[in-house]
Amino acid sequence: MTGRIAVITGGGSGIGRATALALGGQGDHVIAADMNAAGAAETVRLVTAAGGAASALTVDVADEASVTAMAAAAEAIGPVAVLVNCAGILQNASRVEDMDLAEHDRVWAVNYRGTYLCCRALGPVMAGRGAGAIVNIGSIAGFEMFPLPAYGPSKAAIHQLTKVLAGDLGARGVRVNAVAPGFVLTEALRARVAAGERDTSVMESQNAIPQIVTPEDIANAIQFLCSDGARAVTGVTLPVDNGWLAGLAYNTYAGNKKN
Ligand SMILES: NC(=O)c1ccc[n+]([C@@H]2O[C@H](COP(=O)([O-])OP(=O)(O)OC[C@H]3O[C@@H](n4cnc5c(N)ncnc54)[C@H](O)[C@@H]3O)[C@@H](O)[C@H]2O)c1
Repeated sequence: MTGRIAVITGGGSGIGRATALALGGQGDHVIAADMNAAGAAETVRLVTAAGGAASALTVDVADEASVTAMAAAAEAIGPVAVLVNCAGILQNASRVEDMDLAEHDRVWAVNYRGTYLCCRALGPVMAGRGAGAIVNIGSIAGFEMFPLPAYGPSKAAIHQLTKVLAGDLGARGVRVNAVAPGFVLTEALRARVAAGERDTSVMESQNAIPQIVTPEDIANAIQFLCSDGARAVTGVTLPVDNGWLAGLAYNTYAGNKKN
């Protein structure tokens, strides 16, 4: 499992950085590919400080030429065997009729088109060598209704793209899966909690397991889906949400909370 070249888009922050640390810690050479060069460089510093091997590349995943150049630069480092598509942007809550269309299009460009372009650039290269694993990042917002008219549908599309790619690449040795994180305690959420805009105890109470998902929880699931231990797993989107999705109906059964 070790010694692979693993490209992680969005590797300069949050879930992508945690994934870089997890894969780097098991001996993979991780490539943090991010629009934020300073963030990617910091990830490289952290992975190498922990004894791992890492490189940084700058990319805008929404831009085809940029993705093509990133894929070529990654292959110049070594044969890419793992692609984790963590680059993504959130949106503010909005009604459909109030959604700013430019923001709508940007969310789709980064989240869906970015995932599509990176899979399209590196999937066939891995398939040509007969082996590889891709993990996309969906969301619980891709399963259920949230006031996020661009973000939620862009994540639902990623779930569906994951199935399409699994069918497309499976016979050529490449597995394609996704994880759907719940509300993750990243720096952005920590800042909102500190500002009094979010209450973690309320968030925890909505989960089957009353705790908050960490970036490391997501990285652990990604690590498994990229591993030989998951050799029979493809085309799935795995919720990593402390049972938030499973708890939706349970918590509201007959109008009552369970506790
Ligand atoms: N944090 C959560 O609660 C949560 C929940 C569900 C899903 N997700 C998804 O997980 C993924 C990672 O989120 P995160 O919380 O770690 O966010 P984050 O903001 O910490 O990290 C995202 C990274 O993507 C990079 N990025 C943004 N646009 C880019 C572009 N066009 N090209 C290249 N890089 C770009 C950013 O520079 C940043 O480093 C996203 O797809 C997000 O939608 C997050």
